[in-house]
Amino acid sequence: MAEESKEEFVVEAVGLTKIFKDFWNRPKARAVNGLDLKIRKGEVFGLLGPNGSGKSTTMKMILGLLFPTRGELKVFGQEPQNVSIKSRIGYLPEETYLYKYLTAFETLDFYGALFGLDATQRRERSSQLLEMVGLAHAVDRPVGEFSKGMARRIGLAQALVNDPDLVILDEPTSGLDPIGCREVKDVIRLLASRGKTIILCSHLLADVQDVCDRVVVLYGGQIRAQGLLSDILREEDKTQIVTPRLSAETVAELKNFLAAHGVKDLDKVAVDNPGRDLEDYFLEVVRQATEQKVSTAGAHAPGAMPEYLQGKTVPTGQELLQSLKGDAEAEKRKAEAAKAEAQLRAAAEAKEAEKRKALEDLKGAAKPSDAEVKAAVEKAQTEAEAKAREELNKKLAGLNFKK
Ligand SMILES: Nc1ncnc2c1ncn2[C@@H]1O[C@H](COP(=O)(O)OP(=O)(O)OP(=O)(O)O)[C@@H](O)[C@H]1O
Ligand SMILES: [Mg+2]
Repeated sequence: MAEESKEEFVVEAVGLTKIFKDFWNRPKARAVNGLDLKIRKGEVFGLLGPNGSGKSTTMKMILGLLFPTRGELKVFGQEPQNVSIKSRIGYLPEETYLYKYLTAFETLDFYGALFGLDATQRRERSSQLLEMVGLAHAVDRPVGEFSKGMARRIGLAQALVNDPDLVILDEPTSGLDPIGCREVKDVIRLLASRGKTIILCSHLLADVQDVCDRVVVLYGGQIRAQGLLSDILREEDKTQIVTPRLSAETVAELKNFLAAHGVKDLDKVAVDNPGRDLEDYFLEVVRQATEQKVSTAGAHAPGAMPEYLQGKTVPTGQELLQSLKGDAEAEKRKAEAAKAEAQLRAAAEAKEAEKRKALEDLKGAAKPSDAEVKAAVEKAQTEAEAKAREELNKKLAGLNFKK
């Protein structure tokens, strides 16, 4: 395939065929039959079709879990079995297979470890994903206890733990309550807006209609119809106008106006109140229950999407080192400041102690009594007289008198 197509198309299949064989190698089921597919980067692509039409089989071939019997299939320009692309793909299988004794947190931690994420990344991503799918309150519960929808939610979280570029979701909204469905649809649209490619299959056509850019409809393993949803669903021969409520007179005037402008078949002009969306109504009822803090052991309202899935920049090794270095320097500066402060404090304390001691000495030196002063004076006089006498004797001795 051409070099540029590798960039443009995340999945490219030509004549893709899968025939399941029986024990004697006889063809048992022609699950996929000559499929041509081109799925672009950033596209939300829907695989539709009745039961047994080959949707899951196609997904499993894209994942490299099944070998095509015939045809060519490239994923990120590589053979699907190529190990180098595995870390770029997230998969939510039709049935969520979980180790029932692991808790919700351990489950995500386990899958994170399979993708070689370090402990910090696993911890961060697991708690952010559990928050996103509304299971933060159930992190320590074994997943074996989860309801079907809760298991589906943890399955979705597991499919995103490796920050995949291609997300393959087999019936992502099956078993989910309307809040979960809305949440999954929001996550899908957000992921697509971040340049991720999503392939999903679902029998819930309203959900498909809400999220998909393009669909193919399979029947008997072959493409029966395909196209952009915006093209497929647009009714070119009709015009719809939605206005605030109109009075009966205005409606009558409007019909006259249309007739005057050459609109025939006035009986085909429908004027009524558009119906309210049941999904919106349901979400409003639940929003009110949440607001009133009605208790529930089930799934909670979804939290924010993890930053790493939002494409917020993850620090590179260099940036991480730099920030650690920065931290180390800040720590060093802090330690030096603390040391200087301690020295200053010690010096101040020493000075204070000196002052205190001097005061103590002053206080301790008792005021001499009069008698003591007299005695000291007498002592000094005696000493002075003794000294003077001594000096006199010396001088007299020096005169050397004749006896
Ligand atoms: N492992 C298998 N061995 C034999 N036949 C299989 C196998 N997997 C699928 N098939 C057959 O291939 C055909 C397509 O099955 P597939 O699971 O792809 O359908 P699907 O479109 O996903 O259906 P559903 O909407 O029920 O999930 C079916 O006839 C099915 O019986
Ligand atoms: Mg299926």
